[in-house]
Amino acid sequence: MRMKKIAVMTSGGDAPGMNAGIRAVTRTALQKGLEVVGIYRGYQGMIEGDFIPLDRFRVSNIIQRGGTFLKTARSEEFRTVEGRAKAAAHLKKEGIEALVVIGGDGSFRGAAALHAEHGIQVVGCPGTIDNDLYGTDYTIGYDTAVNTAVQAIDQIRDTADSHNRLFFVEVMGRDAGFIALRTGLASGAESVLVPETTTYIDELITKLEEGRKLKKASAIIIVAEGDDEGGALDIAKKVNEKFDAWETKVTVLGHIQRGGSPTAFDRILASRMGNSAVEALLKGSTNVMIGQRNNEMVEVPFTQASKHHETLNPHLLELVEILS
Ligand code: F6P
Repeated sequence: MRMKKIAVMTSGGDAPGMNAGIRAVTRTALQKGLEVVGIYRGYQGMIEGDFIPLDRFRVSNIIQRGGTFLKTARSEEFRTVEGRAKAAAHLKKEGIEALVVIGGDGSFRGAAALHAEHGIQVVGCPGTIDNDLYGTDYTIGYDTAVNTAVQAIDQIRDTADSHNRLFFVEVMGRDAGFIALRTGLASGAESVLVPETTTYIDELITKLEEGRKLKKASAIIIVAEGDDEGGALDIAKKVNEKFDAWETKVTVLGHIQRGGSPTAFDRILASRMGNSAVEALLKGSTNVMIGQRNNEMVEVPFTQASKHHETLNPHLLELVEILS
């Protein structure tokens, strides 16, 4: 029997472009003759039956907005078998047969459990600023987060240069250095410290000393929050114990990286992924994430997408050093 009703939700940390994704899912589904329901607050809203019917006008004027109008949450209750049973009961009562989840790896693990235990068809779109999912070149929100960080660092550079100071700037990324690497390259940072590689404080100090000898006016070091030597504050302290030629300042960019109007890149990525997610459901796919590979939309099994992330391109890490 042909599918009649699907749901869409956002889950985990919000990311700019999620609204564009909801819009694309809704409008594609309506165009295919499906009914669409939005689930508020991710899996927590599913457990509570917090649903809203979506028509084409309900998703008007959101493509340019950051955050997610459906709200998002990280639900502890959904991690339990009982929580998932409550959630599935609400879906079944509403006649919802399939679900598009826009979120990160934890959200996909939840979707896979919902499928395994209750037979709900599930497709994911990668929505996280971290870019830390395997099988896609980009996740929704990553480009916007990088552009926000770059703009902030350009401003920091002005003041760093005026005072001859050393800045440690912390960007987001608990387990992944993608934001740090791209931000560092685009802002001309002296060094980028990421969780994927070992950080050697002494090597960093040698590099800073060389910069001083070359009469550099300032230095900016980008630190991914999950670096093995700690966050920007920890690393600044360790460096300062042996190197104090420059006055040192620390800036933690934090959640400003999560907000703001999505870039054109993220809007287009989310639009394509949302559209492909509905098409994947209609052809019977389940437990897959829609990824973008070499500019093509592809289906990646959840088991692959959430187990590990792509490796950082070592050439780009080297490029930061070469060009600084
Ligand atoms: O996963 C996205 C992310 O922004 C990470 O980069 C960051 O470590 C984390 O979420 C912060 O989570 P929260 O907003 O719950 O503090």
